[in-house]
Amino acid sequence: MSHPTLPGQPFVHYAQGQLHVEDCAVNALAAQHGTPLFVYSKAAMLAALAAYQKGFAGRNAQICYAMKANSSLAVLQLFAKAGCGFDIVSGGELARVLAAGGDAGKIIFSGVGKTRAEMHEALLVGIGCFNVESEAEIDVLNQVAMAAGRKAPISIRVNPNVDPKTHPYISTGLKGNKFGIAHERTLATYQRAAGLPGLQVVGIDCHIGSQITEETPYLDAMDRMLDLVESIEAAGIPIEHIDFGGGLGINYNGDTPPTADALWTKLLAKLDARGFGQRKLMIEPGRSLVGNAGLCVTEVLYLKPGEQKNFCIVDAAMNDLPRPAMYQAFHSIVPLHASPTVPDSAVYDVVGPVCESGDWIGHDRLLQVQAGDRLAVLSAGAYCMSMSSNYNSRPKAAEVLVDGGQAHLIRQRDSLADQLRGELLL
Ligand code: LLP
Repeated sequence: MSHPTLPGQPFVHYAQGQLHVEDCAVNALAAQHGTPLFVYSKAAMLAALAAYQKGFAGRNAQICYAMKANSSLAVLQLFAKAGCGFDIVSGGELARVLAAGGDAGKIIFSGVGKTRAEMHEALLVGIGCFNVESEAEIDVLNQVAMAAGRKAPISIRVNPNVDPKTHPYISTGLKGNKFGIAHERTLATYQRAAGLPGLQVVGIDCHIGSQITEETPYLDAMDRMLDLVESIEAAGIPIEHIDFGGGLGINYNGDTPPTADALWTKLLAKLDARGFGQRKLMIEPGRSLVGNAGLCVTEVLYLKPGEQKNFCIVDAAMNDLPRPAMYQAFHSIVPLHASPTVPDSAVYDVVGPVCESGDWIGHDRLLQVQAGDRLAVLSAGAYCMSMSSNYNSRPKAAEVLVDGGQAHLIRQRDSLADQLRGELLL
């Protein structure tokens, strides 16, 4: 068997029999920094961004990286330097963008449960837009803005009731979801918002879900959004920008999402056909900018053969890689050494040390491994470190960003002191 193929990962490859991220051997990074270790490729992130930039060439468009996918400061810094704005969902994310040198004016603030304190802070630093999600939030934001002597720029998140055909936990644009304002209520809500002294209507937005691998849901959502823009503007309320959210999927396991530029060529053709081609456009991609730019290296602790299952117990767990436990998600798991033959391979469930049966990273994987070997869990750049926790009092992993032959440590592994900080004995 030749070495495994690496789906969707142009910057992760085998060279001289060893797994590399760009020009850095992953094994050497793991030896230096320990495991579990996240390793990211700067070139992969910039290439993913370039696909969107290519799609939007010549247009008035702002790419706002949905930083919940990976909110590590150096990653934010990279996207800020590349000209991105940010889609944030909390005061913590706001502070991270500012700490990473992001431009407050290019921040949009999403989320169904913004607090008054978060709104106040975002108003003071002058964010670009609040993407409001309910009629109740509109009233509160109006009050907070008036009290601060500011006008809050707003967009209303529309729930277009389109099925994104993805996992139910990451589907957000259907009637039964908690997100956005129902299509039928949208015009009335804009009319109310436009009359409030603390608010300035600037846009309209939607986000229908995540890991979307088909273009039809986007095209349908766009039609519904443009219908609304027409009726809102006919009522005398100008809409400066249209924000189509994020959601484009990546290749985890043979998935074939459209590329960002191919998708946007189609979407822009529709915008042009409907006369909105010159409008300011915004998007909020997260996963598609970082997901396939990262992997997680883990060490095999024990092999545990069993009657029904063989277990390969590794030192990464659901606290580091929560997606399999939460969404039954698939991540490829590959060896760090490409092996020409696999004489003693076996099928394993790859599991972590956490005391839960839900703590698995991959089911039924054919591996040739022994204790002490290292493995790489692929497509781990999005929604892994940002969703990681200290469950079982495990330290959060370290992170390295590779740039050609150089590797920068961008997050130290949690120390025990980090874990105990802030706690008080009785
Ligand atoms: N905009 C809004 C308002 C969102 O809620 C999200 C993601 C995005 C943009 C970015 O979506 P993306 O381009 O990354 O698909 N933890 C889950 C994914 C949750 C997505 C939540 N919202 C996972 O690991 O699959």
